[in-house]
Amino acid sequence: MYSVKTGTIATPRPAVPGYGPAAKWLHWLIVLLLLAEYAVAILMPGIGPRTQPGPLIDLHFSLGVVILIVMAVRFGVRVAAPVSLDMPDSPRWERWTALATHRIFYLVLLVVPFLGWASASAHRLPVDVFGIVTLPAIAAPKAHWALVAGDIHKLAMWTALALIGVHAFAALYHHFVRHDTVLLRMLPVRR
Ligand code: HEM
Ligand code: HEM
Repeated sequence: MYSVKTGTIATPRPAVPGYGPAAKWLHWLIVLLLLAEYAVAILMPGIGPRTQPGPLIDLHFSLGVVILIVMAVRFGVRVAAPVSLDMPDSPRWERWTALATHRIFYLVLLVVPFLGWASASAHRLPVDVFGIVTLPAIAAPKAHWALVAGDIHKLAMWTALALIGVHAFAALYHHFVRHDTVLLRMLPVRR
């Protein structure tokens, strides 16, 4: 493109490869699953020494295991086809924060479910995934470390929800204020 102002021919910015269909669909599937999981977490009874298994607790465990599996698949897709950030007009700190947030999501959603599982085992609650398969206990009943793991699970998952809020806000800010393609390139309908 010729610029009258500078009298030079600008080379167009090379296109950064975007997210493939699998990465996009898996992203939005996780959004839906997490929405349901947090709703169940709010509605389910608090888990204590005398808690009996019930439908909401079972649903929390089942959805949690599904999220763990889908995240593992998504991580595989991500490693097989890495996508770099495309925010050329953003300052360094913004790019750094976006990248760190994405990494934290993978870390939290691949590790922290196991802490919930350990707490379930310590409370003698079976992890029965949609009545199809019952996973083995990974901690002894009343194991102290697993009860602490349960507290960390709670704290980490509520903190992750706050981070999800920041992440969603940033995506909407890019779209409606910056008018760039950050949100558009994650939408499944757009190539
Ligand atoms: C992967 C997504 C998951 C999310 C987002 C999530 C979220 C949460 C949240 C927010 C709480 C706190 C609820 C409250 O404040 O009362 C909680 C508690 C709990 N979750 Fe999860 N969870 C997930 C997966 C799992 C899995 C896979 C299991 C077990 C197999 C599990 C077992 C538990 C248990 C046992 C508690 C109670 C912890 C305690 O009080 O010691 N969670 N979860
Ligand atoms: C609900 C939980 C959410 C999680 C766990 C999550 C997680 C992630 C992760 C890990 C990435 C990095 C790309 C990848 O490796 O797949 C990403 C990218 C993205 N997310 Fe989310 N996300 C969530 C919700 C949302 C919401 C609600 C929006 C929009 C309002 C959104 C918009 C985006 C956009 C636009 C990108 C692309 C950023 C870029 O690389 O340019 N996400 N998300």
